[in-house]
Amino acid sequence: MVNLCVFASGNGSNFEAIANGQYRNINVKLLVCDNPNAYVIKRASKFNIPCLIVNMKDFSSKKAYEEYILSHLLEYKIDYICLAGYMKIISNVLLKAYENKIINIHPSLLPSFKGAHGILDAYNYGVKVFGVTVHYVDNGVDTGKIIDQEAFHIDDETLEEVEEKIHDIEHKLYVKVIKKLWEV
Ligand code: GAR
Repeated sequence: MVNLCVFASGNGSNFEAIANGQYRNINVKLLVCDNPNAYVIKRASKFNIPCLIVNMKDFSSKKAYEEYILSHLLEYKIDYICLAGYMKIISNVLLKAYENKIINIHPSLLPSFKGAHGILDAYNYGVKVFGVTVHYVDNGVDTGKIIDQEAFHIDDETLEEVEEKIHDIEHKLYVKVIKKLWEV
């Protein structure tokens, strides 16, 4: 069995899509959430997936924060990590322990529109081809080698319509990539 951990900070629709995935040998074993009020925590309890809630304010440094998370990842024998709306940069402790084993989903066609507001930034720019990217995680913001992307064209859609379409694509693309990378 391959054990997966999802990191999320907010709503958790991607977490739910991953948890709902049908895999031959992949087990969604743990959620790590850095926001005690995030809706994703409720989603995890619905799936009976344990949730480690961490608050960086409780730690003296990012290093100590990640070491605490790492100790739990090892305890749960986690093989791979999927970031799904996790709004912190992963730093050396986790990058070293999980080299090439952490992936992220981002709601734009990278390398365009990195950061926390990818959809809004692209929409305000007047972009006509939107998309979603899944990529390996390095120590930058939405950088790292691209694994897969999916694009679509818009005409006069509203921001809400674009967001909905992006989330639909994300949920399918993330599961597809997880299966492609780690299913045997
Ligand atoms: C998703 O759209 C994801 O691509 C984005 O946060 C959203 C989380 O939604 N991530 C980033 O912007 C990373 N830079 P969710 O909580 O419903 O899965």
